[in-house]
Amino acid sequence: MTKPSIFLPKQAQIINVRQNSESEKHFTLRFADGKKIHFEPGQILEVSLFGFGEIPIGIASSPTRQHSFDIVVRGIGRVSKAINKLNKGDSLYIRGPYGNGFKLDKIRNHPVLIVAGGLGVCPTRSLIQYILDRRSEFKHFTLFYGACHPSQQLFRDDLSDWRKNNDIELLEIVDRPDCDWQGYVGVITDLFDKTQVDKDTRVIVCGPPIMFKFVIQKLDQLGIAHENIFVDLERRMKCAIGKCGHCQINHKYVCTDGPVFSVKDLEDLPEAF
Ligand SMILES: Cc1cc2nc3c(=O)[nH]c(=O)nc-3n(C[C@H](O)[C@H](O)[C@H](O)COP(=O)(O)OP(=O)(O)OC[C@H]3O[C@@H](n4cnc5c(N)ncnc54)[C@H](O)[C@@H]3O)c2cc1C
Ligand code: FES
Repeated sequence: MTKPSIFLPKQAQIINVRQNSESEKHFTLRFADGKKIHFEPGQILEVSLFGFGEIPIGIASSPTRQHSFDIVVRGIGRVSKAINKLNKGDSLYIRGPYGNGFKLDKIRNHPVLIVAGGLGVCPTRSLIQYILDRRSEFKHFTLFYGACHPSQQLFRDDLSDWRKNNDIELLEIVDRPDCDWQGYVGVITDLFDKTQVDKDTRVIVCGPPIMFKFVIQKLDQLGIAHENIFVDLERRMKCAIGKCGHCQINHKYVCTDGPVFSVKDLEDLPEAF
């Protein structure tokens, strides 16, 4: 019997859609064959729409909340804008999960800090839910969340729950406030002056590449070792299985060696960010 192609996607039905902000839509999906998806927080999917193409998207929900899974899509181009026109009951096609995830074995039993900027909060939501569902496996848990403007904050319902939840210390910051904003104003690195970050903390950084350099500078000042800082890299991807070379940075493939790397792993790859 011939094996099915590794590029063959599976049909998933959209069971819920929310407009997360002006250009981002939050989809909840379930495979049409009823099977569960097995993944780790931080892994990615290749999401396709017939007639338009296929794009890599991070999984935005935790494997601890099974049967369905979430993605958030920012409509910026041909495929993502077409996906964002879909409605409940429509189908998307999924390959994956691919990549390595947020190194749960290395962050368990330690304080954890997630530094999420902009769309970077989407893959980290998977880890946030995971830690909240298995709270006893992790020590102090802090989330720094930065957005340009309050209207661009994603996951508003989650944020209002997390603000009340003593299991997570949430610090929010925006570049430009509106008149209702009650959080901090500035850049995400300003939040390091607002709380204590223990030297033993495992740090996950996810957001625009410009943010990485400044966050790592702050973490260096706090004495956090590079093997304990993990960054979620984004590169152009096509195959997601280490064949096409689109995501290559020297000898590393973001799709198979990452997308999550320790800063130590990237020390000899200055072009990584
Ligand atoms: C590991 C990984 C995880 C991702 N997770 C998410 C996610 O959770 N949600 C989400 O909305 N998007 C995510 N992306 C980005 C998403 O894959 C791109 O936005 C998408 O491929 C754009 O395709 P398009 O056909 O809609 O746009 P195109 O028509 O191909 O491009 C439109 C514009 O976007 C730029 N662009 C395209 N791809 C990228 C990219 N990868 N990075 C930066 N700029 C790009 C192009 O240069 C062009 O200016 C992720 C990408 C990677 C590699
Ligand atoms: S996307 Fe093809 S090798 Fe990584």
